Amino acid sequence: MEREIHRIHPAPADPRPLAGTYLDAPLAPEDADDRLFVYANFVRSLDGRISVRGADGRERVPGDVANPRDWRLFQELAARADVLLSSGRYFRELAAGHAQDVLPVDSGEAFADCRAWRREHGLAPQPDVAVLSTSLDFTLPETLLEQGRRVMVLTTRDADEMRASRLAAAGAEVIRLDSGPHVSGGRAMDALAGRGYRRAYSVTGPWVLHALVADDRLDALFVTTVHRLIGGTDYAGILEGGRLEPAREWT
Ligand SMILES: NC(=O)c1ccc[n+]([C@@H]2O[C@H](COP(=O)([O-])OP(=O)(O)OC[C@H]3O[C@@H](n4cnc5c(N)ncnc54)[C@H](OP(=O)(O)O)[C@@H]3O)[C@@H](O)[C@H]2O)c1
Repeated sequence: MEREIHRIHPAPADPRPLAGTYLDAPLAPEDADDRLFVYANFVRSLDGRISVRGADGRERVPGDVANPRDWRLFQELAARADVLLSSGRYFRELAAGHAQDVLPVDSGEAFADCRAWRREHGLAPQPDVAVLSTSLDFTLPETLLEQGRRVMVLTTRDADEMRASRLAAAGAEVIRLDSGPHVSGGRAMDALAGRGYRRAYSVTGPWVLHALVADDRLDALFVTTVHRLIGGTDYAGILEGGRLEPAREWT
């Protein structure tokens, strides 16, 4: 069957500056102003790896995949969010000194336009944070709450009471949503929508993405492909979890 294709490489279009690619683009349809719009972003290798397990047993974005250009795009998307979705694992890594700073819109001079964008659009200096976790086995860094950000922990009904109390004492709002072993993407997003959020940016990994996609709660997926092949046997792609049936279409 004859079908049109859009050639993307070699590039058919004029070059444009990287800065502003996501900051200036329409993010959501106009009718999404009065509902929660959910988006996620990944940088991956040409062979589909977003994360590999190192010799120390820790998962991380490989150094030959992460890069300043992607960080720029990550920041532009973060600038547009009123809440970031994170994970218990991220905070464990942060406490162990193996993660980036506390989910910030970067304070560096190079990102002044991102901070200005938030001011101009009436957003707080930093987005709030919603952490998905079943284990509740993490601590919150003081700096997160000192920045005046609301922190919500989205967990299950059976999650450990002591850990929940500790997180609440640290200043988080612990929200118990599901009776199963995991938080469903649908209930998690309903909880955020009910609290007035309109733009949720998932900065977490492939399991949270699966929860969102399985419940048809992901509106936009941003993927940057680094043209490197990195191999590795213990790795993650952008989506991990059970087979999605039917497969979800992304056009
Ligand atoms: N290349 C990229 O663009 C990119 C982007 C994001 C992340 N990553 C990498 O991907 C790897 C995994 O990231 P990640 O751990 O943040 O994300 P993840 O694999 O999606 O989430 C893992 C953690 O989130 C919690 N979780 C996930 N789904 C849940 C659900 N439905 N209900 C309740 N809790 C849930 C669990 O926390 P508890 O164990 O506390 O229960 C779990 O350990 C890391 O190496 C990260 O660096 C790469």
